[in-house]
Amino acid sequence: MRIVLGVSGGIAAYKAVEVCRRLVDSTHHVTPVLTEAALRFVGAATFSALGSEPVPEGLWSGGIPHTRLGQEADLVLVAPATADLLARYAVGIADDLLTATLLATRAPVVVCPAMHTEMWEHPAVAENLATLRRRGVRVVEPASGRLAGGDVGVGRMAEPETIVAVALAACGPQDLRGRHVVVSAGGTREAIDPVRVITNRSSGKQGHALAAAAASRGARVTLVTSSSLPAPAGVETVEVESASDMQAALQAVASDADVVVMAAAVADFRPKVVADHKGHGVPDLELEPTPDILAGLVAHRRPGQVLVGFAAETDDAVGRARRKLEQKGVDLLVVNDVSAPGAGFDHDTNEVTILESGGGATALPLRSKREVADAVLDKVVARLRGSTGDSA
Ligand code: PMT
Repeated sequence: MRIVLGVSGGIAAYKAVEVCRRLVDSTHHVTPVLTEAALRFVGAATFSALGSEPVPEGLWSGGIPHTRLGQEADLVLVAPATADLLARYAVGIADDLLTATLLATRAPVVVCPAMHTEMWEHPAVAENLATLRRRGVRVVEPASGRLAGGDVGVGRMAEPETIVAVALAACGPQDLRGRHVVVSAGGTREAIDPVRVITNRSSGKQGHALAAAAASRGARVTLVTSSSLPAPAGVETVEVESASDMQAALQAVASDADVVVMAAAVADFRPKVVADHKGHGVPDLELEPTPDILAGLVAHRRPGQVLVGFAAETDDAVGRARRKLEQKGVDLLVVNDVSAPGAGFDHDTNEVTILESGGGATALPLRSKREVADAVLDKVVARLRGSTGDSA
């Protein structure tokens, strides 16, 4: 998703840095746009380093039409939004790049007011906000707490975590609202001794993209991950290392889940005995299979629960996966040919075929892992609607 992050001039601008980081971590494309006053509080270099592209210089430079950012955005988020910015937006003034972007966009807009209590309570601010709300702008209410200059009261900008969750919920379908989605991600690490492990090439990108996509579609998400990637915004994360850890963590949360997606690359085997000390020389390893986590989830699935497996194949991908779908008893199996260019392990893109129990196969050409995630969730939503007869 393309997000314009507008930052106006208040002390809370320092918290917008964290908002920017979280949105980028959730795999969104973030263009930071700072007002002149914002630049007195934080440097453009900080946002240029954290955002997906450098801070544009302003309305009159760079040869970019003043409407382009607004036209291309999927969401415009303003954090902090000062009294001055809200007033200019409410009356339709477009005298800098941020206000021009706000007027040019048809995307959802979320504003996060931040100001002193007296200003927040002034009727002019209240009326401007009422005008913006009437036009469909979403407002993340400020909290009470410490303000600039040592004052305390209402007007402190909401915390970055809340802002990101509200902003992402503001766009896109909310077709997983009220659902609990559990996702596994990453390659498990099976200890040989305290130093060495057996693992695989999974980065966790596909699983994290699934968790982020489910959260922005309104789901409560639990991500069980062995990846070192940062947790997507608004997602409860359980960090694990081995297949056994992952199995225990998934068993603890799956009984309450409406959907479980196994995107993790669970190691297929592990040393039968883990050495207490670092060994010297080449070890004589005896291996044993890891538990089949997916089979356990299928055996204990709750009624109506949708189970999704992934299959990493290198030849006759769809044929093998079709057999795996039947063997594993899942509702959907997402097969990626991990030997295809740009697909599978560690890439930002993937090329998959989604196989459905009872027939049906959807081949998706190479696209971002986030887009793959949304396509998988579209199928999940259709299954949920089918099993409950509701409108998800
Ligand atoms: O993490 P990335 O770098 O983004 O890469 C993404 C990916 C290639 C890891 C992902 O798209 C993927 O294919 N994940 C599944 C990889 C895999 O383990 O495939 P499999 O065919 O070996 O296993 C089939 C299914 O059984 C998988 O859902 C797997 O999670 C599950 N499984 C496997 C072994 C085991 N012991 N227990 C399991 O539950």
